[in-house]
Amino acid sequence: MLKLPGLIDPHVHLREPGATHKEDYDSGTSAALAGGITIVLAMPNTKPPIFDADTLDLALNAAKQKARCDYGQFVGAGPDNADWDETLPKRAAGLKMYLDSTFGELRLDNMTLWQPHFENYPKNMPIVAHSESRSMAAAILFAAVYDRPVHIAHISLREEVLLIKAAKERGIKVTCEVCPHHLFLSNEDQSGLTHGRSEVRPRLATRKDVDSLWENMDVIDCFATDHAPHTVEEKDSDNPPPGFPGLETILPLLLTAVSESRLTIPDLIEKMCTNPKRIFNLPDQPETWVEVDENAIYEIKASEQFTRCNWTPFEGWKVKGKVRKVVLRGRTAFEDGKILAPAGYGRNVRG
Ligand code: DOR
Ligand code: ZN
Repeated sequence: MLKLPGLIDPHVHLREPGATHKEDYDSGTSAALAGGITIVLAMPNTKPPIFDADTLDLALNAAKQKARCDYGQFVGAGPDNADWDETLPKRAAGLKMYLDSTFGELRLDNMTLWQPHFENYPKNMPIVAHSESRSMAAAILFAAVYDRPVHIAHISLREEVLLIKAAKERGIKVTCEVCPHHLFLSNEDQSGLTHGRSEVRPRLATRKDVDSLWENMDVIDCFATDHAPHTVEEKDSDNPPPGFPGLETILPLLLTAVSESRLTIPDLIEKMCTNPKRIFNLPDQPETWVEVDENAIYEIKASEQFTRCNWTPFEGWKVKGKVRKVVLRGRTAFEDGKILAPAGYGRNVRG
């Protein structure tokens, strides 16, 4: 039995408010616990989007009643909400800036709209950029010009990891995360995913891009799922929304990579606990750990998951490493396939 610290996923979509048929704070945090994750940071591209005190309250009130693991809620950067003082940022996980193609209404195309957010959002609180390729380069330039940290969400391309490496070497305050689907799937080998099911932003990349992420593992600060549940009916429709669920598959996939010597347990702890805790200023979780059976071999099945979306891009994958038990702040929160933490047990990391 392997004992890991409580793991942190700094990038999930829990769909609350507005799309709770896909997920809510209850089903999403249950999926997190089943995946060995004890803190989730939720994104603001909900309906309505989270961008001010009232909308933040909508999400936090739902979370307070429903969450079964600890959580934080991001606010989104919009065209009219850049007059940040201390109050709202103190209650939020951080500021999310959508600078590129995404799902939902929050998107800032014009760079004049980026500037006041970089100027005003408190420098000790995280800014996370959804940016790809050249918009990622622009986000890193903003971090350098305004001398503040920026965290780049879900990098997927060789050109991205190489530029982040060069920026870090020059002292620019940039960190980044990578998602399992960009490490284990490519656009050349989609493992039989039909059109709608392979839709995700950033898109699956080439085999060469995937290889370069593995080769530059030391540049990657965090693993994050970008858990983006849409129902199987929505994914198989004529207008499939982009996004993959990931909370229940990240750890078995990464443990399988450990068993194949592509990754080490210290790498995994660094990228799923130590680094996200530092980057996002997260509190200690005393008496919190995850027990894993490293030798358990099993098949991933959507039918066994807690996420409400009812599918996974990794259906039928054979993995090695199963979460047996999660203890969260002294209480057994998950054991042998059962969620034991009640709704409302989860705490706000900014509480
Ligand atoms: O694939 C994605 N799904 N990319 C995004 O940027 C948003 C996400 C979602 O919310 O579904
Ligand atoms: Zn996302």
